Amino acid sequence: MQITLSAIKADVGSIGGHTRPSEEMLDAVGMLLQKNIDSGLLIDGTVTFTGDDIAIIFSHRHGVNNAKIHVGFAWEAFLAAAKVAEAQGNYGAGQDLLVDAPSGNVRGAGPGVAEIEFELDAKSEYRPAESFMIFAGDKCAPGAFNLPLYLTFTDPMHNGGLLLNPKMHLGWTITIIDMDHKGEADDRIIRLDVPERSWDVAALLQNPDRYAVESIHSRYKPHEQVVSVAATRLHNIAGKYTGKDDPIAIIRNQGIFPAPEEIIEPYATVNQIISGDARGSHNMPQLPVPVNTAVTGPYCHPIISAIGFSMNHEGKFAERYVDFFDNQAWDYARHLSQRRAAEIRRQGFFGIAMAQQTEIAYTGLVNTWKQLDDEFEFRKS
Ligand code: 13P
Ligand code: 13P
Ligand code: MG
Ligand code: MG
Ligand code: MG
Ligand code: MG
Repeated sequence: MQITLSAIKADVGSIGGHTRPSEEMLDAVGMLLQKNIDSGLLIDGTVTFTGDDIAIIFSHRHGVNNAKIHVGFAWEAFLAAAKVAEAQGNYGAGQDLLVDAPSGNVRGAGPGVAEIEFELDAKSEYRPAESFMIFAGDKCAPGAFNLPLYLTFTDPMHNGGLLLNPKMHLGWTITIIDMDHKGEADDRIIRLDVPERSWDVAALLQNPDRYAVESIHSRYKPHEQVVSVAATRLHNIAGKYTGKDDPIAIIRNQGIFPAPEEIIEPYATVNQIISGDARGSHNMPQLPVPVNTAVTGPYCHPIISAIGFSMNHEGKFAERYVDFFDNQAWDYARHLSQRRAAEIRRQGFFGIAMAQQTEIAYTGLVNTWKQLDDEFEFRKS
């Protein structure tokens, strides 16, 4: 059976500042999810949050970028939660709903979309059922998954499965998107096969504010997509700073794909510093946290959650997901991240403590620079 897995997220309001959505907002989304499961539009699904972003994770049979799914369900669900947020006086009601009424699909309208369509066959010799993970970030840039994905899919020092599993040893095709491309409707993408082109992949992913991994496919079964990342930059839609992009990713695991321990390894060993944080304009290390965690850390220390699901060949989820970072195994990584965060915060706004110039260009700081420009004078030397 052909199944589509969708993970669509949006910030439509939060309590006491940009911390987390209210229970009533989550209930509004959950009710529409259930209604659409009952009507047969969707097969199964669940609602979570990571900081102030609500994620709807669900299965259906309508393919990627489907209007009934994106607009008829997801947009309507976020709209319902935004109305609750408005009635409750929550901060930033409807923040990520950047257009009046999206036509067709919600890509480019504000919400982040990760989607993969695949065949599930109970008799398949290599994939009789599905096992997948959802990663969600808050207070961070869409390139936040670049480094962890690079390490998992190209570096045996972080993923020994690339040596141990002959199907993974054949490598991957990585699709990278140029998030700054401002053409009409067309995206600017490049497809690179690894391991041969690993250093070319590295050369692009080095700049996570412009280039992001959008998808990864197996080279053992080239039609099998293992990764989908929501990689858009909100300021390119809105033309100004409207909050951080806060990406979401689907990563299928086990069998012909990496095992969960190989996918989460970089979050323990590398603890990368990423752009985002307070006003989306600083650089701080990511903090692995349980799903449904509010952002209350100093200076919006950016958070990442990771949950795992099983799905049967009919697209039904096992009743519970597993929460990877909700475990004391991650306390040490959290401690290292907090220590690194405190170190970089000591230099306040200077140099690399603030995000790079292209990010800051969408903030009010440029107005001050423009005003000061007029006060500059030329001096003969
Ligand atoms: P289990 O025996 O616990 O399933 O271990 C599987 C494994 O190989 C871990 O990568
Ligand atoms: P989000 O609302 O996109 O999470 O980010 C808000 C922000 O700018 C943090 O200071
Ligand atoms: Mg917010
Ligand atoms: Mg957010
Ligand atoms: Mg945001
Ligand atoms: Mg086992």
